[in-house]
Amino acid sequence: MSETPDEPVPRASDDPTLDDLDELSLEERASLTSGADMWRTTAAGDVVPAIRLGDGPHGIRRQPEEAGDALGLENSVPATCFPPAVALGSSWDTGLARRVGAALGREASALGVDVVLGPGINIKRSPLCGRNFEYFSEDPHLTGVMGAAVVAGIQSLGIGACVKHFAVNNQETDRMRVSADVDERTLREIYLAAFEHIVREAGPYAVMSSYNKINGVYASENHWLLTEVLRGEWGFDGLVVSDWGAVNDRVASLAAGLDLEMPPSRTDQDIVDAVRAGRLDEATVTRAAGRLRTLTRRVAAAERFDGWDVDAHHELAREAARGSLVLLKNEHDVLPLDLAAQRVAVVGELAQSPRYQGYGSSHVVPTKLDSAWEALRAAGPVTFAAGYRLDGAPDEPLKREAAEAAGASDVAVVFLGLPGDAVSEGFDRTSIDLPGVQVELLRAVARACPRVAVVLANGGVVSVAEWDAEADAILEAWLPGQAGGSAIADLLLGVASPSGRLTETIPNRLADVPSHLNFPGAEGHVAYGEGRYVGYRYHDTLGTDVAYPFGHGLTYTRFEYSGLDVRETGANEWAVECTVTNVGGRTASEVVQLYVAFDEDLPSRPCHELRGFAKVELEPGTGTQVTFAVTGRDIAWWSTARGGWRIDAGTFAVEVGASSRDIRLRAELTTPGDGYVDALGRMSTLGEWLDHPAGGPILRDRLGDRFTGMAESSPALFNLMRGIPLAKFRSFGIGLTPEVVDDLVAAVQ
Ligand code: BGC
Repeated sequence: MSETPDEPVPRASDDPTLDDLDELSLEERASLTSGADMWRTTAAGDVVPAIRLGDGPHGIRRQPEEAGDALGLENSVPATCFPPAVALGSSWDTGLARRVGAALGREASALGVDVVLGPGINIKRSPLCGRNFEYFSEDPHLTGVMGAAVVAGIQSLGIGACVKHFAVNNQETDRMRVSADVDERTLREIYLAAFEHIVREAGPYAVMSSYNKINGVYASENHWLLTEVLRGEWGFDGLVVSDWGAVNDRVASLAAGLDLEMPPSRTDQDIVDAVRAGRLDEATVTRAAGRLRTLTRRVAAAERFDGWDVDAHHELAREAARGSLVLLKNEHDVLPLDLAAQRVAVVGELAQSPRYQGYGSSHVVPTKLDSAWEALRAAGPVTFAAGYRLDGAPDEPLKREAAEAAGASDVAVVFLGLPGDAVSEGFDRTSIDLPGVQVELLRAVARACPRVAVVLANGGVVSVAEWDAEADAILEAWLPGQAGGSAIADLLLGVASPSGRLTETIPNRLADVPSHLNFPGAEGHVAYGEGRYVGYRYHDTLGTDVAYPFGHGLTYTRFEYSGLDVRETGANEWAVECTVTNVGGRTASEVVQLYVAFDEDLPSRPCHELRGFAKVELEPGTGTQVTFAVTGRDIAWWSTARGGWRIDAGTFAVEVGASSRDIRLRAELTTPGDGYVDALGRMSTLGEWLDHPAGGPILRDRLGDRFTGMAESSPALFNLMRGIPLAKFRSFGIGLTPEVVDDLVAAVQ
């Protein structure tokens, strides 16, 4: 590999799609593996055009041409700010997510953006993570299914989606250096599972590698992650782009499978030098350039729009918010409000100064902005009192005035939420509490008014335990996007029934969060010590008290579950059916959730895990049948020893319910397993040999039935011996000499 740029470039790959890259010099191909500027890729003559990437994930952040930096977050071209993933995820509505994705694709197209940098599909490991508002859930199944719907929507118009941040980017603290130290089973079952689902099911055009390290290796230099798993196992055929500035070593990144560095570090010569010195295979450079070319060809087929219907997209944002907000409690049916019959006080500055998105690279300049106060005022006679200052400074007169307004009302609706600077990319929170002045205001209002409803605005979970008793109703509005204000009014007034469900547990205390003792780590490492026990997997397995469980959410009606029917449809495949009926008085949607449950002791696993969900809208008195497919993968676990998924023979249950703690129907099933048996060796224990389908008979044949007798006459001694590796018996005189053990191993193999 010592050709000069003037010599013809040899075919660097057998891949025929790389043919016309042969025209490009090594320098040109190297230049394609880095951007041209902050948002654009590099062009190469007629062979590869430049394309534009843009944030994401819940609205298009298209910076004006003259803004060359990534830090000018406030001056992008107006675009619809849809509900961020914290809200959209809570809709559990894949059709809605797909439509939002398609609207994002259309706006991207109109703004000249070819690839949307989103959705963000990292798992919410701790409520403190500053970017939780950009992520869907603590559960990988829900994250994967919702993320796939957004990707499908964006790409339905030919615009590319770029799922991020791959992988294990679950905190902002030290995000550019920290090593997420995670065992492989936890990686496979929790942190990679949503990416795997989306890659396999939705075929995203691009994946963004994260800043952090995984078990000591930067994601952007991680060959196992980017090449063996992503491409080799999951069949990803798109482009891997770095997070902005995530590349530390161009050569190491390319060799690992990263195709495009953004933005450019102007180090293309490093690549050329490495190829010339024989440190980097030239085929690797050609392949990366080829993947950029493939991406440019894919997006060249995108539908091109001059603009979009701003009002229609605002309405879609409103519908999405309406479907996303979660009614946590509603005692004495305080909600919906009846403005004709009740005097209603709207309290809280956040009612008129809405908190509707978080800060950082996802920040969108909205096309419009609704406030709940304006929407409520337009619907009927309501009074307003600000109650507190947004900067958190105590203000007694404001509080007093609000208590007086509440005292003169039948119902007070109190808007509370996190300060704007608490919800952001780049740093984590250190507490999950609401500002103290807001809690004090709530107490003052609750003393003055008999009926109190709280509306929450927050991108990450806040603790409710301290003040829950002061509120008859709590509507968790998350960060609901630019039309959130009118969506909140729709739900408060009963124009629609709330239908969102929690995608993350609301704990009683921060200290109850399973990652608490290991978040955010120190000295460059964060140990994922809680393993697979993230969120409800921990709380439900251990029976911890929580404020509101995963999957929870109320409506203005009630649903009944009946008629569970489970049919085997194939080898390790089942169809699970049940009927859900609206037995209340209003049209509303139920989110029917399917969990698989294990109660065996070994191998230890969470007591149940979400494997399916369906959102169904029902008129009063009507019912519908809901069907889920359960597959072998749904009951499998990742065996590090096997290096693959495993299904153990035995029993498990399917549970259908309205939250992880409100299981209505349950059926036990058995599986024959997948036939996999562990290999036996000299260091396998006596117990492993005896239990093994091939090893047991061989061992008994050789040693006679002495163990059968021992199991009966001296069970303790027998159990003690079961734990001893066969090779260790050489000193114990029971006939298991090294030669005999070698014979046994040979025979069983
Ligand atoms: C963020 C990405 C974003 C990129 C471009 C990075 O700081 O982590 O999510 O897409 O910037 O703005």
